[in-house]
Amino acid sequence: MAPPVQPKSFVARHVSAIPRSGIREFFDVVQNQSDVISLGVGEPDFVTPWHIREAAIYALERGKTSYTSNLGLLKLREAISHHLEKNFGTAYDAKNQILITVGVSEALDLALRAVINSGDEILYHEPCYVSYSPSITMTHGVAVPVSCKAENGFAVTGDAIERVITPRSKVLILNFPTNPTGGTMIRTELHKIAEVVLRHNLLVITDEIYSELTFEGDHVSIASLPGMKERTIFLHGFSKAYAMTGFRIGYACGPSELIEAMMKIHQYSMLCASIISQEAALEAILHGEVDTSEMREQYRARRNYIVNSLNAIGLTCNLPRGSFYAFPSITSSGLSSKEFAVRLLQQEKVACVPGSAFGPSG
Ligand SMILES: Cc1ncc(COP(=O)(O)O)c(C=O)c1O
Repeated sequence: MAPPVQPKSFVARHVSAIPRSGIREFFDVVQNQSDVISLGVGEPDFVTPWHIREAAIYALERGKTSYTSNLGLLKLREAISHHLEKNFGTAYDAKNQILITVGVSEALDLALRAVINSGDEILYHEPCYVSYSPSITMTHGVAVPVSCKAENGFAVTGDAIERVITPRSKVLILNFPTNPTGGTMIRTELHKIAEVVLRHNLLVITDEIYSELTFEGDHVSIASLPGMKERTIFLHGFSKAYAMTGFRIGYACGPSELIEAMMKIHQYSMLCASIISQEAALEAILHGEVDTSEMREQYRARRNYIVNSLNAIGLTCNLPRGSFYAFPSITSSGLSSKEFAVRLLQQEKVACVPGSAFGPSG
C-alpha cells in the first residue's frame, strides 16, 4: 500500500524556509472585517486615470488580444527610452536594452535569477520592500541587509555598504524613494556609493518605482552617474506613478547582455506582458505626466497631515521625502511593532503594517 501523501514534503526546502509576507498575513485578517481603515498595502487609492483605462478598452475594441514580442511592444520600449533620457538622464536602446515585464516584481525576479549563482551575496538597505530578502533566497543567493536609521532619513551610506562587502558580494539593490520609509538619497552620497560599487566590481539593481513620487529635491538615479549605466539594471514600472497596480506592468533596462539573459527567463516563464496593459502603459508614459503630478501633490498634503499628527501624539515620525509611506517610531508605546499593530486594529480599527515585516531593522 502506498504511504499516506504528505503534500508539504514535496515543497522545496528553500521555499519552505521562506515566511509568508508580513503584510499579507496581517491583511488577510483585515479582509474579513468591515469598518477598518486600511493603511497597509502599498497601493495608491486613486483609480487609474480615465484616459489610461480608455486606452486599454480601445486596445480590446481593436482586437489587441495577442502575444507581443518577448521584449514587449517596440513602440512602448521607444517611449520608455525617450522618457528615461528626458527625465533620468540615461539613454537605453529600445531594440535590445529594454524589457517589458509583469510589474517591477517580475523584473526584480528576472534580474536576480539572471545574475545570481548559488551563494552569491546580495546587499540591500533595510527597512525595505518585503520581497527583496525572499526573492534573493528563492534564487539561492545570500541576503545581506544594511541597516538604515531614522536619524539619517533612512538613507544608506557608502561606508555602511562597504563594511559588509566580502569576496562573495555581487549585487547591491537600491530603492529610493524607499518602501516603507520614504527615504531618499542626495547626489553626493550616491556618488560615494558608486565609488564603492566600482571599487568592488558590484552590479547594481536599482528599483526606481517611487522616483516620480519625490517631494523634496530632484530624484537622482545611480544609473545616471559616471561608469554606472554599464553595471546597473534599472527597474521601473507603472503601478505607483500612474496608479496602475492591477495592470501588472513594468520594465527593466540595462546592458544588452543582461537584458538578453533576463529575456531568456522571461521568454520561458512569462512569454510577454499583457498586450492590453502594454497599450495602457504607452498612453500613461506619453500623456500621464499631469496625472502623476496631481497625485504627487495629494500624497504630499496627506504626508504633511499624517506626519504632523503622528508627531503631535508622541509617535516620532521622520518626514518621508518621497513615496506614499510614513514610518513612525512606536518606541514610546513600549510595545513591539506587531503588538502595536494588533492593538491599533482591535481598538481603533486602523490597519497598518508592523515594522518587523520590513526586516529586522524595521
Ligand atoms: C519597492 C517596490 N518595488 C516593487 C514593487 C512591486 O511593484 P509592481 O506592482 O510593479 O510589481 C513594490 C510594490 O509595492 C515596491 O514597493
